[in-house]
Amino acid sequence: MSMSLTMSFEAISGQDWSLMTLLGLPVPLDGLRAKVLENPALPALSSERYALTHELYEAASDQRHRLQEWLARELPPLLADHDPVRVVGVGVGDGSVDAPLAAALAAGGRRVRYTGVEPHAPSAAGFARRLNALDATGLTPTVVIGEFADHDPGYPADLVHFVHSLYYVDDLNAALDNALSMVRPGGLLLTATAPLEPLCVLTEMLCPWAGQKPWFAEDVRAELDRRGLPIRSETLVGHLDATDGLADPLGRGEAVLDFLIGARSRALGPGARLQLLEYLRDISLPGRPGVLPHPVELTIARVP
Ligand SMILES: C[S@@+](CC[C@H](N)C(=O)[O-])C[C@H]1O[C@@H](n2cnc3c(N)ncnc32)[C@H](O)[C@@H]1O
Repeated sequence: MSMSLTMSFEAISGQDWSLMTLLGLPVPLDGLRAKVLENPALPALSSERYALTHELYEAASDQRHRLQEWLARELPPLLADHDPVRVVGVGVGDGSVDAPLAAALAAGGRRVRYTGVEPHAPSAAGFARRLNALDATGLTPTVVIGEFADHDPGYPADLVHFVHSLYYVDDLNAALDNALSMVRPGGLLLTATAPLEPLCVLTEMLCPWAGQKPWFAEDVRAELDRRGLPIRSETLVGHLDATDGLADPLGRGEAVLDFLIGARSRALGPGARLQLLEYLRDISLPGRPGVLPHPVELTIARVP
């Protein structure tokens, strides 16, 4: 993790991060890695299980709420003189994050053309339902069921955003180039991506990525810096409540553990499961076992 990110954690959360293992891996994770490497890759989540466990994971965290508020507060003033405002959301899932943003952008009757790109059809249908249910006369939602790499919006966008979706693109450089080519001069590219500490270390290690490299906040920032774009960035630190995972990993805590590691957690052997739970205790807030820091790094780039 970069020093600047360490500092932004401290500045934002006001917590004693020296109590946590943010630099280097705690010992239980080394043991878990050894146990996992002895066995074949864990079974991947089906797209249905992914969507279900994602919903339950977000419900166990206050990060989404913080993100919704942040986006609806910070973005409309940056696009104040755009009418209509054209948005492309990439990997919108069921639209839970997009709906409050679309409503905020459409306040005062402003025209908003809001396109959600989402490969998982049931989630895309959820996006369409959520945005169509908003009481916003100027809002025209569109959903595209497919991958971002295949998407051509046909017109320049004022805002392209990736909220927790850049992890999954095949080629980060190409995805960012593609996104930037869609944004008209003066428009915005927004990314919201988790840093590779301490929860995502688990996802990176245990998720069966099928030969694909997952991208995290550090990769996104490096790619944007390399382009010399002026960037504003901020880290929101939410908290994930994984206490059920510690107490009942094969029962009521299973869904959160599944999404956390990006795989079927019940396929872990007993030794590896114990190591996983020990790691979760190790990275918990002091005195609150199972309550885990859940950061997301936001970047906004204004396209010259
Ligand atoms: C963690 S979810 C985030 C959903 C939503 N943005 C949110 O924050 O609730 C990641 C989403 O990215 C989608 N996704 C994965 N690969 C994608 C790709 N290549 N292009 C577009 N979306 C993708 C998934 O289907 C999933 O809905």
